[in-house]
Amino acid sequence: MAITRFLTGITPSGTPHLGNYAGMMRPAIAATHNPQVENFYFLADYHALIKTQEPERVNRSTLEIAASWLACGLDPDKVTFYRQSDVPEIPELTWLLTCVTGKGLLNRAHAYKAAQDKNQEAGRDLDDGVNAGLFMYPVLMAADILMFNAHKVPVGRDQVQHLEMARDIAASFNHLYGEHFTLPEAAIEENVATLAGLDGRKMSKSYDNTIPLFAPRAQLQKLIATIVTDSRTPGEPKEVEGSALFQIYQAFATAEETIAMRQAYAEGIAWGEAKQLLFERIDRELAPMRARYEELMAHPAQVEAALVAGGERARALSHPFIERLRAAVGLRSVAAKVEKKGKAKESAQLPSFKQYREKDGKFYFKFVAADGRLLLQSTGFDAPREAGQAIARLQHEAGALQALQAQLQPAEGVAPETITAALALSGASSSDK
Ligand code: TRP
Repeated sequence: MAITRFLTGITPSGTPHLGNYAGMMRPAIAATHNPQVENFYFLADYHALIKTQEPERVNRSTLEIAASWLACGLDPDKVTFYRQSDVPEIPELTWLLTCVTGKGLLNRAHAYKAAQDKNQEAGRDLDDGVNAGLFMYPVLMAADILMFNAHKVPVGRDQVQHLEMARDIAASFNHLYGEHFTLPEAAIEENVATLAGLDGRKMSKSYDNTIPLFAPRAQLQKLIATIVTDSRTPGEPKEVEGSALFQIYQAFATAEETIAMRQAYAEGIAWGEAKQLLFERIDRELAPMRARYEELMAHPAQVEAALVAGGERARALSHPFIERLRAAVGLRSVAAKVEKKGKAKESAQLPSFKQYREKDGKFYFKFVAADGRLLLQSTGFDAPREAGQAIARLQHEAGALQALQAQLQPAEGVAPETITAALALSGASSSDK
């Protein structure tokens, strides 16, 4: 059974708020319970540098966001949860991709164009204040996704163009160097709440109308008291349509609770009372997570350990993969023999490892020949990292085939020499280091 790999990044440039929670974190964590899906969630800290040059802010936000995800129930054993900058293969891949990306493609990116439009309106030079990181952003994001051959990328609408670019970039690379990358697709959650903020507009950092996810109880209550309402007096029936308060309530309440609130509006509940109900409802959901969050924030070493472990798991995949990609583009030992001619063919014909997860929750890999023939099939590993390490040993260690015998089943009718020869080719880039 095929496993779908989901991957998404969160840029650590601020403090998570209720809108992030209801719109992204809560559904993303719920999605990790689906056994058909393998999830990669990461802190996109290289991306944060595009937006902010305040080191303390990047660092603090990384801690807050990682602690928030863990406090909200993300299980780092189930999800590959890592920090982008712990995976040095990502910036390396960024460069390989940069060199197959048309500059014109990047000129058309919305984020870059928006910055230019702003300058034009203000009568400034078009590139005034625009760093090259903003320009290169879509390539870095493509590297994030392609590094792990993700199938689906849950993102907001504003990111759809970046996904199209990632596909374009992947297709260019595949065309030049062989089929290395899966073409990723955006997964847009249609019925996920965009939460209203304090002023009734969408809750967003840029509108300064947010409620921090783990604001202490008293602050939460105070902030909720400032949500805009109309001037209807107690006893006057109230409209749910366009009511930020109702909309936020709905995002936290069950269907029955929502019906009851709708009824209370019709019956003229006082705004003060409705705010108290909203406060209690949100606090009921958040209080246990807030306690865990405060615990983690008091022990940042625990958060760091979770991120480091996740980074190692990610690298068990990214490291062997970048080696293959380096070889494919010609960055490889000058002493290694490559028999085949023609650049596209040569890399397309390398034997390769395919990793996947089965219904039983275990992690497997198979090793397939250039022509698609199965050469080796692994037994189940408890963690993707173990599978990744076995692959790395097979590629780089003489005798690994023998040593790992218990975890491997050679395919029927395949001679051991065929496997050994194929292994040497698949690890060709580093075989004589
Ligand atoms: N650019 C995304 C945002 O601002 C964050 C991000 C970075 C991302 N890399 C990614 C999202 C890869 C999905 C996949 O929201």
